[in-house]
Amino acid sequence: MSNSKKEVLDRIKTITGVKPKFLEVDLKDSLLCDVVFRENKDIDAVIHFAAHKAVSESVEKPLKYYQNNLYALINTLVSMEQYGINNLIFSSSATVYGNPKTLPITERTETQRPFSSYGNTKKIAEEIIEDVINANSEASAISLRYFNPIGAHESGLIGELPSGIPNNLMPYITQTAAGVRDKLMVFGNDYPTKDGTAIRDYIHVVDLAHAHVISLKRLLDKKQGNSFEIFNLGTGKGYSVLEVIAAFESVIERPLNYEITNRRSGDVPQLFADISLAKDKLGWKAKHDLLNMIDSAWKWEQNIREEQNQVKN
Ligand code: WQD
Repeated sequence: MSNSKKEVLDRIKTITGVKPKFLEVDLKDSLLCDVVFRENKDIDAVIHFAAHKAVSESVEKPLKYYQNNLYALINTLVSMEQYGINNLIFSSSATVYGNPKTLPITERTETQRPFSSYGNTKKIAEEIIEDVINANSEASAISLRYFNPIGAHESGLIGELPSGIPNNLMPYITQTAAGVRDKLMVFGNDYPTKDGTAIRDYIHVVDLAHAHVISLKRLLDKKQGNSFEIFNLGTGKGYSVLEVIAAFESVIERPLNYEITNRRSGDVPQLFADISLAKDKLGWKAKHDLLNMIDSAWKWEQNIREEQNQVKN
């Protein structure tokens, strides 16, 4: 709940007809973490998402990130081992590649010391998972390296709702367009890219979700190629910040208020994926293009503002 809300559960029920079972537990607490597994003996697999994820914040507060992201992972792994749960999907990140020397990035691209503590927690986490899997012949894991997840569910019922001032580009753009923020600050236009602004591989969050379902089925059906697999989850296409802004302005049919300012610490010039491995092994490919992603993000932003106004009135 550090960056989410319980009402999402009811919204998931509206969309799927099923309200997920929910236990509010701080995974940094090993005893509480154990209770989850002790009281739910029918768990077949774990998809581990729980982590702080703001690149810039992690540069200012490294211990918040190492403590939260690694304690939560290790406690989960300890409980999985204790209760004989041998299937793990891990939410990793393209930030493990640091500032890659070559593009597009493949899963064989050498990971470097990430620029941010956030990225380093993901790199260390993958190394911990690999050691745990190598020590247990029954266990299997798939690490999914997300590029830049954006967008919302097509229903407009669930989406990204960061607490406080958004760290990420897309929610900051939609909140600026909705009048919640005055102006978007573009962090630097002096990068070695086509228009000087940084390039990222934005991927629709629903495409990302589908990759998790496919990966989970791969483990449960024991179809994995080896006990620890890693896949890039991107579209294979990079867009600069100015290109994203231009695409957004074409959707809302009016200009967005933004200003170029200095670079943000921890940012790298370009990140975009080679997605052939996920296509070959998982049979997965992102279906949504940038305009779909923006449409869904903007619909979600308008819905939440309308809901908040209804609550006020
Ligand atoms: C994107 C671009 C900024 C905000 C994210 C997640 C991280 C990980 C990787 C999954 C950059 C620029 C941003 C703003 C801007 N995801 N920007 N003004 O930093 O690539 O990291 O993807 O693991 O968890 O945070 O994404 O959306 O913060 O930035 O100019 O107000 O937009 O400089 O070039 P980032 P982001």
